Amino acid sequence: MQTKNRAAELDARGIGKTYGDFHALDDVSLTIGRGEFLTLLGPSGSGKTTFLMILAGFVNATSGSLTKDGTDITHLPAEKRAFGMVFQGYALFPHMSVEKNIAFPLQVQGRNAQDIKKKVDNIVDRVGLREHATKRPADLSGGQQQRVALARALVFEPSVLLLDEPFSALDKNLRGSMQEEVRRLHQETGTTFVFVTHDQSEALALSTRVAIFNKGKLQQVDTPKAVYEHPANRFVAEFLGDINIFDLKDTKLSGALAECRFEDRVIRASNAAGSPTNHFAIRPEHMVLSSAEPADRNALAADIEDVTYLGAATRFALKTPGGKGLTLEMPTRETGPDFARGKRVWASWAPDQGFFL
Ligand SMILES: Nc1ncnc2c1ncn2[C@@H]1O[C@H](COP(=O)(O)OP(=O)(O)OP(=O)(O)O)[C@@H](O)[C@H]1O
Ligand SMILES: [Mg+2]
Repeated sequence: MQTKNRAAELDARGIGKTYGDFHALDDVSLTIGRGEFLTLLGPSGSGKTTFLMILAGFVNATSGSLTKDGTDITHLPAEKRAFGMVFQGYALFPHMSVEKNIAFPLQVQGRNAQDIKKKVDNIVDRVGLREHATKRPADLSGGQQQRVALARALVFEPSVLLLDEPFSALDKNLRGSMQEEVRRLHQETGTTFVFVTHDQSEALALSTRVAIFNKGKLQQVDTPKAVYEHPANRFVAEFLGDINIFDLKDTKLSGALAECRFEDRVIRASNAAGSPTNHFAIRPEHMVLSSAEPADRNALAADIEDVTYLGAATRFALKTPGGKGLTLEMPTRETGPDFARGKRVWASWAPDQGFFL
């Protein structure tokens, strides 16, 4: 398998793509580092596949430029880029065995038979297909077929691997094990991975950085922790999972804390929450429930409207006296009979939790 220094760096500058007067991509600039696992995340139609196809060379950008390791490849045809690709539909050759499917790209490159055998054997073991090597794709499960597609994309040791929603057809458990597999293959090969998904948790779990798209525009690119805990805007905050957003009044600084009002309560936020604005956001799992009003925390009285058992966690739908709906999630082991539907409780959080939008 390849050495880590074969991984490429890609640099997209001001990429735009229009279809008629529709902007599928608008001024996207993004550097994808050598050996990075970068995920393109966004809702359906946000431009993820279009951007990946421009990286691959299958779609021409209307504007902007693309370099690989500093060399301009904006107009280089796809076959000369020689990036590995894995798509949602595996596109395996139905009449060929697993081994022959995987060997195919090497044969196209005209490698000698011994070299091909060695490389195919190596990758077949790596993706756990040894006992299925002589089967045809139709005799494999969906997950096994996806492994063949991964192996075929990695066998020629590409400097970049592009993956477009490769697991969207798989069930949840299989998806989880394929995610681990891809992560392991990324670590072992050191190749630059660009991965497309519209699944937030998949993006957060796999990536070194996440690039979030909406309506053809890049919204934010940063580590999973940073985009989740410090979203650049309301779209990113809401797209990355449930969030409570409060419209505040009278926001002002009071010493090291920002102080503001929500309904009849004073809310304090440390500078970890960012520059004060009139919109404050907090994730459901960053608040806790209590029966008594807690000291030294931001706390809102609320009535429990609904309780959903999720296994390890329990989710509460709450309503404040002013009519604001809240979502709160707590480890199930910390809940109890005091937190049942209809009870009056306190939802609270520390001043260094949450952030201004
Ligand atoms: N060949 C085309 N002609 C016209 N419009 C196109 C073409 N290809 C893509 N589009 C439009 O560009 C936008 C972005 O499409 P794209 O396939 O990149 O979205 P996506 O983020 O990959 O979505 P999904 O999650 O559904 O796969 C969409 O509105 C799509 O309809
Ligand atoms: Mg797509």
